[in-house]
Amino acid sequence: MCGIFAYSGPQNVTEILLKGLKNLEYRGYDSAGMAFFHLNRIHRFRVCGELSQLKKKLKKLPAHHSLGIGHTRWATHGEPSEINAHPHRSQFIYVVHNGVIENTEEIKQIIHPKSLFSETDTELIPHLIHHFYQNKSLNFLQSIFKSLPLLKGSYAVVAINEKQPSEMIAFKSGPPLILCRKDKDFFISSDLQALEEQNFEVIFLEDEELAFLKNNQVQLFNFKGQKIYKKFKKHSQAKRDSTKGKHPHFMLKEILEQDQTLKHLIDNHIGKNTLDLKLSKGNKKELNTLLKNSSEILILACGSSYYAGLFAKYVLEDIAKIKVSVEMASEFIYRKTFMPAKTLPLFISQSGETADILTAFKQIKKWNLQSLSLCNVKNSSLDRKTDFSLSLFAGAEVAVASTKAFSASILSLCFLAFHIAKLKKCLKQEKSFVQKLLSLPLQIEQVLSCDQFFLKMMEKLKSFKAFFYLGRGLYYPMALEGALKLKEIAYLHAEAYPSGEMKHGPLAMIDKNTAVLALLNPSGLLYKKSLTNLKTAKSRGAYLITIGGDEKDKELRLLSDQNLPLPKTHKLFHPLLALIPLQMMAYYISRSYGYNADKPRNLAKSVTVE
Ligand code: M6R
Repeated sequence: MCGIFAYSGPQNVTEILLKGLKNLEYRGYDSAGMAFFHLNRIHRFRVCGELSQLKKKLKKLPAHHSLGIGHTRWATHGEPSEINAHPHRSQFIYVVHNGVIENTEEIKQIIHPKSLFSETDTELIPHLIHHFYQNKSLNFLQSIFKSLPLLKGSYAVVAINEKQPSEMIAFKSGPPLILCRKDKDFFISSDLQALEEQNFEVIFLEDEELAFLKNNQVQLFNFKGQKIYKKFKKHSQAKRDSTKGKHPHFMLKEILEQDQTLKHLIDNHIGKNTLDLKLSKGNKKELNTLLKNSSEILILACGSSYYAGLFAKYVLEDIAKIKVSVEMASEFIYRKTFMPAKTLPLFISQSGETADILTAFKQIKKWNLQSLSLCNVKNSSLDRKTDFSLSLFAGAEVAVASTKAFSASILSLCFLAFHIAKLKKCLKQEKSFVQKLLSLPLQIEQVLSCDQFFLKMMEKLKSFKAFFYLGRGLYYPMALEGALKLKEIAYLHAEAYPSGEMKHGPLAMIDKNTAVLALLNPSGLLYKKSLTNLKTAKSRGAYLITIGGDEKDKELRLLSDQNLPLPKTHKLFHPLLALIPLQMMAYYISRSYGYNADKPRNLAKSVTVE
């Protein structure tokens, strides 16, 4: 799971590759590397760790080089190390690869490689190409065509060859690869976010397609070697704000931006005090017909986006009166199941590049269903594939742990629920909902400003090693999300449970060394029941932090070791207010341990392998 960036053109290739790879580091930061031509020879530089290390290594280089490939890696086969870093080579053939080659043993049987240096599956690719190049006296392109049927798994590859300095070959089956050009510059990238340019032309390579670049002219082929014709299409994109500003981490910046993120989203979908859902892709009338005719929504997502899906189930069933099932994409894809004809698949993904999601999309296509996506990255693979799409409008989310994109998903899903209810003429109290919505950004800002509370809690919580996050109904997905934040960036064990479920087992884990963080809403239906659940945990010795309620909730305040009251709002938006303290506390705990919250160990922002 990695980022690929390649360049051919008149500019300084190392500088261009470094810039592109910087924007792709969200795909992995275990190691980085590049290979480029200088005076008709390929030079390769690789480092273990982040791109900044590679930058240091390249400093001593002379300025001019002409064509090159770059890579940033998230380790799957072989530990993070310089030896395992890409580009990998077989003598004069160099490749960068994103994906997983599954039939490594089979390939070894064919090529009997004399010397493999790394533990990676990738290294076999240049060896395989080389095998055909030398044994069958084929040229570079022909050798690749010969190799393709033998590669099983998922791959996006860019290859160069010292013997043909003007050639670069890209091919894919699975992960994305995009060809981009502007004037005399030619780029190949895992995604469009990697490009600093705002206006250029693109071709999206589809699966089983190959691009052959020679002297900056492109020819396209399918894997059978037949020529295919596609035109470059104009593409323009807004400049990405990917600076930390005055903040030590992107994650803090992104948490603090949430009031503005949600305001932007609200401005987009609310017109003249009514909800007017804006699609970022697809025809709204057609979507409306589809929504009216659907008897069930199937949500597919991973990680935080999956939790947003769980939240959506409560909201869509309650407000839009439609049956919803939510599936983890990674589990869904290899399960034999069936799909009722009137099912609407809804994919949720911040990046739109998560491999499990893209595979789930392929599965769904078999049932010939139209689908909707909720995506933050415009023109991502998912956004391009689905028939209809809603944008999260959250701007670039750089930190690995999702915060503002998660909140934007939650609110967008509320909008979708209200939109369907409106179509079905079962929406009640639209005005009051809109009014409360308009105050939401300010309320978010209010909660964000409770720094003293977050810092105090951080000091207290640092001494605990076991954490339970509890919430019922709409607060359960928030509890899951809060626990995930703590796991991801502070490496602490945290479990989330619906509070009513604790008595069925997990209660046995509670003692005075356990911290319980509970989310609740005193005006919610389940409040009294939740209080009973919390009393049970407290009587077993847990340290109890409650989030929710107001100054008047005496019973809650007496029960809690610490309580953070929250502003009153619509029942659907209150969970969003309750989530913010969980994000902030996880961030502060991580920072107090000296961890880099933006790039937690073993993770990547977008998981592009299954
Ligand atoms: O880009 P996606 O929303 O598809 O990503 C899904 C998960 O990988 C992602 O939400 C992950 O769980 C985050 N690191 C959570 O903070």
